[in-house]
Amino acid sequence: MRVMVIGSGGREHALCWKLAASPSVEKVFCLPGNAGTMEIAETGPARSIAELADFAHQKGIDLTVVGPEAYLAEGIVDCFRERGLTIFGPTQAAARIESSKFFAKEVMARAGVPTAASRRFTDPIEAKEYVESLAEVPVIKADGLAAGKGVFVPETREEAFAAIDQLMVSRIYGSAGKSVLVEERLRGPEASVFALTDGKEVRLFPPAQDHKRAYDGDQGPNTGGMGAFAPTPLVDRGLLAEIEETIIRPTLEGLAALGTPYTGLLYAGLMLTQQGPKVIEFNCRFGDPETQVVLPLVKSDLAGLLWEAAVGKLKSPLEWEDGAAVSVVLASGGYPGTYQKGIPIFGLAEAKELGVEIFHAGTSLKDGQLVTGGGRILNVMARGNSLHQASAKVYAALEKIRVKDAFFRRDIGIIR
Ligand code: AMP
Ligand code: GLY
Repeated sequence: MRVMVIGSGGREHALCWKLAASPSVEKVFCLPGNAGTMEIAETGPARSIAELADFAHQKGIDLTVVGPEAYLAEGIVDCFRERGLTIFGPTQAAARIESSKFFAKEVMARAGVPTAASRRFTDPIEAKEYVESLAEVPVIKADGLAAGKGVFVPETREEAFAAIDQLMVSRIYGSAGKSVLVEERLRGPEASVFALTDGKEVRLFPPAQDHKRAYDGDQGPNTGGMGAFAPTPLVDRGLLAEIEETIIRPTLEGLAALGTPYTGLLYAGLMLTQQGPKVIEFNCRFGDPETQVVLPLVKSDLAGLLWEAAVGKLKSPLEWEDGAAVSVVLASGGYPGTYQKGIPIFGLAEAKELGVEIFHAGTSLKDGQLVTGGGRILNVMARGNSLHQASAKVYAALEKIRVKDAFFRRDIGIIR
């Protein structure tokens, strides 16, 4: 198979790495890719959906795998399918499970899937009146896509009002703030569960834990994710089976009943509450940085599984390795605020000698020198018999990498 991965982050590097290792894959393309994917895949410039479809035709691509949600929300799957191309991911209509939080809530309500109670408002004054009437301070969410930043978890009512104003009046995320959801605040640890599906059959990946806050001990601002590990001990095989039965399958059945059957990867962001697992959000794609720990644990042929799901014939089992995987992000000084680009990166070869994989995110080549090109620079991933062993390997390797002002969290995969 000739496979194309779309995107340029650590998730896409991990996808390329896993697909390139597949016996059924002859060649991997990654558009636009980064300095890491260049080593294992043919890269090319960022393109529009129509241009990507032309490229897939020209290069004889047998399977396209989409990283970022924006392409899915824009209808890349519909476009590729119309042109007879095989692509892994949901249609534009089904991708609304991520691109419209309100749609996701409707699907969940109809299917009886446990989630936080919520109401939608298009008027800021009514939204505030509702906040006033609640016993507990709620969570405020932009209804549309806001690049993962449209969620506010205020501690006080005043902070909740301010969030409503920023989204709906100042429109800091543009039209994503046309309507907002005011949502019950859930409490408990979080887990990410990835379900592969052809619309009917389901295969679950090892459950993972993301680390969204910038600093140790879940302190500091929210980020795109500072690292992950899998499998999370919080979700054992029994709980995972429960999540499949009470959350994943009813959601897929609900989507099919609405005339929008879902194929691809359904990512359930869950909160493990005292009343059981509840959905915080669904995403219509692989998660970043969880993919960087989930894929290394997959024993089965990933390319074959994604292809089966894409053509509606998912039949192979998805088996996992024993043990654990940990991945830690090296970030530019200042991230998630402003940061410098173009800083030289040293020590990757020495780090790799310790048996880790390095998945690039914001990197590029400048006159033959690897330099930074984003807030999240790269991911260092290791496998081990235990989380403890894997994280020890990651942290030893990170000591070898030198990038001026860069930082990383020191508590990922360290279970106390
Ligand atoms: P998101 O950007 O949608 O991934 O959400 C960011 C974070 O906000 C989540 O990872 C949760 O920690 C938090 N969050 C979202 N919804 C709720 C909720 N209903 N209750 C408590 N925390 C939430
Ligand atoms: N790990 C969070 C996300 O991919 O949205």
